[in-house]
Amino acid sequence: MNNPILSIRNLSIDYPITIGTVKAVEGVSFNLYKGEALGLVGESGCGKSTLGLSILRIVRPPGKIVAGELLYKSKDILKLKKREMLKLRGQNIAMVFQNPLTSLNPLLRLDKHFLETIKQHDPKIKKDKALARAENMLDSLGIEKKRLYEYPHQFSGGMRQRIMIGLGLIMDPDIIIADEPTTSLDVIVEAGFIDLLNNLRKEYNLSIILITHNLGLVAEIADRVAVMYGGKIVEVGTADQVYHFPKHPYTRGLICCVPNIKLDQETLTTMEGNPPDLVTPPTGCRFAPRCPKVMAVCTSETPVLTSYGKGQQAACWLYEKGKAV
Ligand SMILES: Nc1ncnc2c1ncn2[C@@H]1O[C@H](COP(=O)(O)OP(=O)(O)O)[C@@H](O)[C@H]1O
Ligand SMILES: [Mg+2]
Repeated sequence: MNNPILSIRNLSIDYPITIGTVKAVEGVSFNLYKGEALGLVGESGCGKSTLGLSILRIVRPPGKIVAGELLYKSKDILKLKKREMLKLRGQNIAMVFQNPLTSLNPLLRLDKHFLETIKQHDPKIKKDKALARAENMLDSLGIEKKRLYEYPHQFSGGMRQRIMIGLGLIMDPDIIIADEPTTSLDVIVEAGFIDLLNNLRKEYNLSIILITHNLGLVAEIADRVAVMYGGKIVEVGTADQVYHFPKHPYTRGLICCVPNIKLDQETLTTMEGNPPDLVTPPTGCRFAPRCPKVMAVCTSETPVLTSYGKGQQAACWLYEKGKAV
């Protein structure tokens, strides 16, 4: 494969708090390639949002990147100056969040939102040119051009989320990071949104990181899937590998919880228990306390991501001991 457009190497992020340190992300590595959609999945509290925010260096205080590298086209993001960082945000890497209502200013018409974003990155652009660009973007989003002159409250929740994507894409970035982008949408609107994302991806040759707890959603779009648990990636592979030949018992557990006909599940079960407390995580494998296949080694030694051919990796002692599940 070509060089990755984004390479995350050994990244660790801490939140120092009064009772200790939340080790929200620990030793995470993965690559993202041009035009690829990567799903980052796992239950709530596993470090997905922290990881997503770190790529743009906007982890909320007191969060700090304490180790590792973030490379965008081989450029070290963690070494960029403030101005270079502003340029990177928006022009190269855009982010879309969960709640579109809080991200759009209710007092400003859409044209103002788009103009503000465009001018921030291209201060010399003529207004009519910027507006034409915004109108074309609305067109790509399946929204009538004339609606550029309306206020956020005049749009439905689904349309507002489309608009947020449009604002993210207006400067033609290479990468879009979408963190739980459909959580506030109903399933029909969600399906339309995923179609849109797939279309935009082709139109703009975008690389996408889709962060979600919803494995069903990821199945609709991702080429590859990284599964996060307790601040670490426990499994990564192509969507086909992860959905049809999951290695890690956590991945298996997640898949069993997905109400998705495509996955051909006969029964739906929910996984017992909760993700670990990241101030004092369990020793060994962090999933051990919930794992149906737990062995003695799992509670004392930490398994590392190990390759199982054709790009699939899992961090699980079941395989490292040479056994199959
Ligand atoms: N601002 C913060 N201060 C302290 N701890 C935080 C903060 N934000 C997130 N965390 C903690 O970091 C861990 C990972 O959270 P998060 O990245 O939001 O996970 P996810 O997106 O997978 O739900 C959790 O234990 C969470 O409580
Ligand atoms: Mg989150």
